[in-house]
Amino acid sequence: MLSKRKINKIKLLNNKKNLRLDKFIDLALYERNGYYLSKKPIGRKFDFVTSPEISQMFGEIIGVYLLYHWKEKINSKFNLIELGPGNGTLFKDIERTAKILPNFFENADVNFIEINKELRKIQEKNLNYFKQSKIRWSKALNFKSKLPSIIYSNEFFDCFPVRQFLNDNNQWFEIYVKFNEKENKYYSINKRVISKKILDYLYKREKIYEVSFSRNKYFEQICKYLKKNRGICILIDYGYNKKLKNFTLQAIYNHKKTSIFENIGKQDISSHVNFNELIEVAKQNKLQINEFVTQRDFLIKYGILERKKKLITKNSNLNKNLLDEEVDRLINADRMGNLFKCLVVSNL
Ligand SMILES: C[S@@+](CC[C@H](N)C(=O)[O-])C[C@H]1O[C@@H](n2cnc3c(N)ncnc32)[C@H](O)[C@@H]1O
Repeated sequence: MLSKRKINKIKLLNNKKNLRLDKFIDLALYERNGYYLSKKPIGRKFDFVTSPEISQMFGEIIGVYLLYHWKEKINSKFNLIELGPGNGTLFKDIERTAKILPNFFENADVNFIEINKELRKIQEKNLNYFKQSKIRWSKALNFKSKLPSIIYSNEFFDCFPVRQFLNDNNQWFEIYVKFNEKENKYYSINKRVISKKILDYLYKREKIYEVSFSRNKYFEQICKYLKKNRGICILIDYGYNKKLKNFTLQAIYNHKKTSIFENIGKQDISSHVNFNELIEVAKQNKLQINEFVTQRDFLIKYGILERKKKLITKNSNLNKNLLDEEVDRLINADRMGNLFKCLVVSNL
């Protein structure tokens, strides 16, 4: 939970001037006692369940994809970087899959980019059997190594704070947050956009526009790094590449949607990733777009249905219905299949 001091700081800021939406989200997620610094959010018992937590097959498919690209295009020492590893489940599944190609981990310099100390402890515990000495943890990406890199993430880019704009009668407005002392609650207000830079950016955009400049900047750093030292980045997240009808910012508390103004510091706030923005950044940096597909198409293309069959044939003790349900949850178009997208960029 946000400390009283921090809540007071938000209120104070709001009393003096309105707080831009992304700054409010940033405080709620990343300040001392903010959600991502203090909570253990992932897993069936917690706020949300992610694809690696749903089925081992998710990590196995990603694993095979990484192995193939390393073997075919790198085949030497490299950085293996996971952004926001959560409970470490995805890595664990990749590590098990890589047993078919032992050279992969012998050549890997493994980096975990993790901001949450509690999750880092869980990652250390979950990776007991993997040589922890081979893993380096950092809070932020560092771009010192000159080795080629394989960078991957699941549900990482949705965490970045967004700004929201709307156009009414040819005038652009931005969402800000204000605190009402009397009613003791936060609420949003629209403020006219006057910055020429932002107005130029919004020119010809849809009437509702949500953007995370910090997300774009983070991804741009990755693209520049890959461009310079070679490599590939695979990112999976919920998101869109079509016009927005409504803003996508959402808060989740104990598996239920809530208002972003409730449970501050105790609940997850995220937004759907605007993939057009990321693709644009990759193109500007002259990277190849290897894949931009739905999670459903990615997992089917790279063999999740065959993997399921193989698991069932190999182990008659496995509960077939459970496996069917897990795969359905990941690939069904009405569940995670279409909402989640997979973007792969590279210069290999
Ligand atoms: C939604 S969780 C996804 C976890 C995991 N990838 C999975 O699929 O289960 C987001 C992860 O990113 C981490 N994280 C969020 N923002 C971060 C940041 N700015 N820098 C480093 N890690 C961050 C969180 O602590 C958490 O491990």
